[in-house]
Amino acid sequence: MTSKLPVRANAVTELAKMLVAGGISTDALANAPTIGDIRQLAKRRIPKMAFDFADGGADAENTLRANTGDLAKVTFVPQSLVDVSEQQLKTTVAGEELPLPLMLGPAGSVRIFGGDGELSAVRAAGQAGLTYTISTASSWSIEEIAAEATGPLWFQLYMWRSRDTVRTLVERAAAAGCTALVVTVDVPVNGKRARDHRNGMSIPPKVTLRNAMGVARHPKWFASLMRGPAIGFRNLEGIAEGSSAMSHQEYINTELVNLSATWDDIAWLRSIWTGPLFVKGVMSLSDAHSAAGAGADGVVVSNHGGRQLDGLPSSISVLPRIVDALGDRLSIIFDGGVRSGGDVLKAKALGADAVALGRSWVWGAAAAGGRGVQRVIDIYRSELRESLILLGLDNVENIDRSFVNFPPEWSRPEGSRDLQVR
Ligand SMILES: Cc1cc2nc3c(=O)[nH]c(=O)nc-3n(C[C@H](O)[C@H](O)[C@H](O)COP(=O)(O)O)c2cc1C
Repeated sequence: MTSKLPVRANAVTELAKMLVAGGISTDALANAPTIGDIRQLAKRRIPKMAFDFADGGADAENTLRANTGDLAKVTFVPQSLVDVSEQQLKTTVAGEELPLPLMLGPAGSVRIFGGDGELSAVRAAGQAGLTYTISTASSWSIEEIAAEATGPLWFQLYMWRSRDTVRTLVERAAAAGCTALVVTVDVPVNGKRARDHRNGMSIPPKVTLRNAMGVARHPKWFASLMRGPAIGFRNLEGIAEGSSAMSHQEYINTELVNLSATWDDIAWLRSIWTGPLFVKGVMSLSDAHSAAGAGADGVVVSNHGGRQLDGLPSSISVLPRIVDALGDRLSIIFDGGVRSGGDVLKAKALGADAVALGRSWVWGAAAAGGRGVQRVIDIYRSELRESLILLGLDNVENIDRSFVNFPPEWSRPEGSRDLQVR
């Protein structure tokens, strides 16, 4: 009887030693192998209304599903027995060298996902040397985010009705050290996000009958919302004079939303900004031509992650024809549905210069703040390396269409407007 005790005690000691040595990690984040696992961690960490605000898309979410579904239709054509002992993951976008063909795309209101939102995310991007794109709709101001940045910074803006407001934001971004502008053109109005309506989600978030239980179950999340300034569009302070954080959305809707913006406004922006200028939300050849004509240096091929016009095709399915027509004149950034290093390689193979992450990094921030964003970047880095090796390539810049199969109609101009500008 007593003789068995030392054996049990030994087993417990061994287990403890393994835990301490990291043989078994209790850290769910470090053990999360994929972006899908990070998404699940985020789902547990924050109330449904906040999770769905990032996860959801517009209307029936057909475009949201098409983004991931079509990336899965691209398949690899590997080459074997090639020396891949050294791997090169670097890329250059708009004259800036990045350690990976990746950047953090613009996401607004990140404090909704807990912690200090954009501040931790920009620190994590800086640690990895990746570009962080400050959204106009951030929950911290341009200057507050820039103060935490150690890597490249870009600024995303909208073509609002008041050119004075746009100019002020552009000047602030330049003074804060942003090196490129990304003007988002696919949000003349907000898409209808049905999940947000059902969950009673708004900016700033309000506790309602529909979401009270979810909020009550996440006291830590709620406490983080209460810390720091009221959640609103901090960049509007000093612009939306007299309006409180509570009424910023109303101010945007009544004073700033611009349903009469045209490509002339992009040409005007070009005239006041000398750095790289990207147009985000380009989904057709005709818009890509217009962007080039207005003097843009690049486009972000994007359907806003299926959050705006539902019924748009996936962004990967329009990428090849835009690259074929304008890849030699424009830098091309891709976003929409990217969830793995393999997806990044697929976008590169079809001609994108780099990929902008959307939900992936936001899920990381929701799962564990800056550590979560770091983990997301680590996952992409290691998956990129592994997929590159498995594909038989030693340099991410050498991937081209010979390494993938994809539906042939993706490279043919489609629709009467695309055919006009052929
Ligand atoms: C929570 C959230 C907030 C976003 N905010 C903005 C924004 O302020 N400006 C913008 O141009 N795009 C915004 N986007 C869109 C992303 O920049 C990107 O186009 C999209 O998320 C890419 O698709 P993916 O999430 O499937 O990767 C946002 C996306 C999410 C998920």
